[in-house]
Amino acid sequence: MTTPLTIIGHRGARGVAPENTLAGMEAALRLGVDGIEFDVQQHPDGELFLLHDLTLDRTTNGRGIATTLGFDALRRLDAGHGERIPTLDETLDLIDRRCLVNIELKTWNGCADAVARMLQQRLDAGWAADQFLVSSFHLPELLRFTAALPAVPVAALYCGIPLAGSEELRALGSRQAHLADEFVDADYVAAVRAAGGRCWAYTVNTADAAQRLTDLGISGIFTDHPERFLPIPVPHAPMSGVL
Ligand code: G3P
Ligand code: MG
Repeated sequence: MTTPLTIIGHRGARGVAPENTLAGMEAALRLGVDGIEFDVQQHPDGELFLLHDLTLDRTTNGRGIATTLGFDALRRLDAGHGERIPTLDETLDLIDRRCLVNIELKTWNGCADAVARMLQQRLDAGWAADQFLVSSFHLPELLRFTAALPAVPVAALYCGIPLAGSEELRALGSRQAHLADEFVDADYVAAVRAAGGRCWAYTVNTADAAQRLTDLGISGIFTDHPERFLPIPVPHAPMSGVL
């Protein structure tokens, strides 16, 4: 591998520690990631918490749809190895500007506005806007976030190739796309790069896959296993969320 590749811990470092937990964030930081990605939902009470699925069954000892449980009850669940479901606030406290924070908006019940408010507080407290990167598959929600907090960069998540090509990124005020590894298309990536942007791919857990994607123009990967790429197997570049 000759091209510097940005290494982002996926859901913390889910191959190493329970996903979307503080232990996962610690593990990713210990491994020296350039950034950490995690999934955020909003509880009807207004709280922002980390969870990938809409249901609790796969990653906790709870059952059913997460937002139907009271927030206190949600917080008492075991999210793996005794870890609790963390809030966004706790997670930002733990990461404390030590790497890029990629927040994926998973729900669209006010989540974008609530995340924007929380990040504004962090900016007021001295965090730089480019220490954050907010992404979502729900592109109208991403647009809503950008309207609320334009200083923070956003990335569009795709599980395919948009018909409008890289033009859609422009409409979002973004220059960054996060692509499913199986749908990475060299022409799309080239168009994004020609417009001054970049593409990262998820979820990449082997050096062979990273090499193939790098050949297609990908410059960053989301991985469950940062330890397979760090410190040296793949050269990695210090990064910021701003292009
Ligand atoms: O943000 C990259 C990746 O996390 C998107 O897919 O399903 O793992 O949240 P998912
Ligand atoms: Mg995610």
